[in-house]
Amino acid sequence: ARKIIIDTDPGIDDAMAIFFAFQAPQLEVLGLTTTFGNVSVDLATQNAITLTEIAKVNVPVAKGVAVPSKIAPRPHPDFVHGKDGFGNIDWPAPKGKAIEKSAAQFIVDMVREFPGEVTIIALGPLGNLAKALELDPEVANLVDEVVLMGGTAIEYGNVSPVAEANIMNDPHAADVVFTAPWQVTMIGLDVTHQVLLDNRILERIKQANPTEGGFLYDCAQHYINFYSSRFDMNGCYFHDASTIAYVMDPSIFGVELGAVRVACEGIGIGQTIFAPQGMSFPEPHWNDVPMTQVCMEVDSQKLLTLFETTLS
Ligand code: BDR
Ligand code: CA
Repeated sequence: ARKIIIDTDPGIDDAMAIFFAFQAPQLEVLGLTTTFGNVSVDLATQNAITLTEIAKVNVPVAKGVAVPSKIAPRPHPDFVHGKDGFGNIDWPAPKGKAIEKSAAQFIVDMVREFPGEVTIIALGPLGNLAKALELDPEVANLVDEVVLMGGTAIEYGNVSPVAEANIMNDPHAADVVFTAPWQVTMIGLDVTHQVLLDNRILERIKQANPTEGGFLYDCAQHYINFYSSRFDMNGCYFHDASTIAYVMDPSIFGVELGAVRVACEGIGIGQTIFAPQGMSFPEPHWNDVPMTQVCMEVDSQKLLTLFETTLS
């Protein structure tokens, strides 16, 4: 099985991704690392532990960064994920505790223990990944791949016309991640806005798997209401769980290679700027930037079927 660490800010679609990964026989989850984002890092940590307890899996949870590296924190989007991060469902607090290590240290230690084997899946702002590189720059050469949900190459943003939420929450950390010498795959709004998860699918998963499926169905109602009240749609976008599908079956996606950098100030703050491979620019900002694989196409039906069958 492929070894993964999930860095996360649960979050309703984070919960979908985490249960998806727990149920996938192709994946071995080494641990969950947490960050602020949809909720505070303390609540994200509690929520991550709650998910391990619901799924009855014994994986460590390591708490990570509480604030962005260089900008003021943005408010938590409780209108999207609820005050509790789970759609205001009043779930009881978990019994377990986070491990003593920081998220960044946990990432470094796992990557050192299994050189070349660990894939980091990032579902929130990227502060923990940037910190891990700072603690141990060799990590970049020792991970298998970084697969992140965030950004957008050509699609509109979701927190500004050009910025996606995870990148906007810590643009400096994101720029560190995109310019480090590791293999990054970006799964952004270009593809996640092409996939709509609706209640019919969630109901079928709940029927087949009342524990995880029932929990996800209950959380998702707040999320789906947000999307259907704001946009002309009947369901929610499939953001974070797309990363898990990518790791299980990359053929679901079409990718383009290019350099990605992040705007860190001004009205474009949080934008992931994509320079397709082969183009060259005289601006020094674009010298020697490693190639990111940017997902631009997705087989939505295949993706949703993989999610449903894995969770059922
Ligand atoms: C991303 O932002 C968060 O609200 C979601 O959990 C997802 O990671 C989508 O822009
Ligand atoms: Ca998330």
